[in-house]
Amino acid sequence: MRNHKVALLPGDGIGPEITAVTKSLIEILAEKHNFHIDFEEELIGGSAIEKCGDPLPQQTLDTCKRSDAVLLAAIGNPKYDKLPRDKRPETGLLNLRAGLGLFANLRPVKIRPALISSSSLKPEIVEEVDLLVVRELIGGIYFGQPKGIIETDNGQRAFNTMVYSSKEVDRIAKIAFDLARERKGKICSIDKANVLDVSQLWRNRVNEMSLKYPEIELTHQYVDNAAMQLIRSPNQFDVILTGNLFGDIISDEAAMLTGSIGMLPSASLTNNGPGVFEPVHGSAPDIAMRDLANPIAMILSAAMMLRIGLKEVSASEDLEKSIDMVLEDGFRTPDLSFGDSKELGCKAMGQEILKKLHTL
Ligand code: IPM
Ligand code: MG
Repeated sequence: MRNHKVALLPGDGIGPEITAVTKSLIEILAEKHNFHIDFEEELIGGSAIEKCGDPLPQQTLDTCKRSDAVLLAAIGNPKYDKLPRDKRPETGLLNLRAGLGLFANLRPVKIRPALISSSSLKPEIVEEVDLLVVRELIGGIYFGQPKGIIETDNGQRAFNTMVYSSKEVDRIAKIAFDLARERKGKICSIDKANVLDVSQLWRNRVNEMSLKYPEIELTHQYVDNAAMQLIRSPNQFDVILTGNLFGDIISDEAAMLTGSIGMLPSASLTNNGPGVFEPVHGSAPDIAMRDLANPIAMILSAAMMLRIGLKEVSASEDLEKSIDMVLEDGFRTPDLSFGDSKELGCKAMGQEILKKLHTL
């Protein structure tokens, strides 16, 4: 029997609810596909601040480091916004990414056929969308030094530094080019090279990398134009390669093509060591504990974990198939529901997916 160790981080807000649903589905899959998963649950974000005063306790990082994969739900709550930055939930997540060296964040954006009419864009615009955002995750303005807020004679001054080295650009570009090879063979690199020096270096290095991949079609777009193109004609994109901040913004925008940010999974990877698999959405404290959350982004993240992190490919395919079947039956969580769809809460959505799993 194959054995896998998974660190499970429910986090905050809707996190524990979507985690419970996802975990029970994985357990059923493990049984069916003949493998075993040891889950080790740890604290992160606001729940870790409450219990240990630290958004990423050492124990959490240690458990993650010795696992085969990390499955994370969501972190954050506005009630922590007044804490010093190093004590906020978001810092816990950033430290986890940095601590595991997760430089490559993959965010696939694929329209599920049953959800075409849930998108805020016209069906003919989103119909065939199937793109992948490859976001650099542990560099750029999120981590650049110097940064801070200082007192001056003229009042306060605040600054961050957007910085990339050629090595950092090269390693994420390589990931994007390799992935493009397995897809439609197109990369659009997004930057702001008309204004920012850091983007000029980014563009130069990506051009350099493309020489090694003559079969891949490379284009560049400025981020403002890319934001527009993404809703004008999203079908032009295959792989989108971009830095940390632009990737954060563009991936939320791309999420809406699919109807709801509650649909988008992600994988954060390094070249050696466990990856973190987490939904793109946040902790949605406004709907927490009310059984209203959409668990699908987390379930799809679990599917990515099974496929990429644990190499349990057929279990991953089963999970994806079951989700499509449930959506085709017209079941929707409130974020996706309209017209004559059958509205379900988080738990009931999990139950429906489970029923489909049993039919496969
Ligand atoms: C994301 C989130 C995080 C980010 C926050 C919660 C720190 O928005 O994963 O996209 O900005 O990277
Ligand atoms: Mg974000």
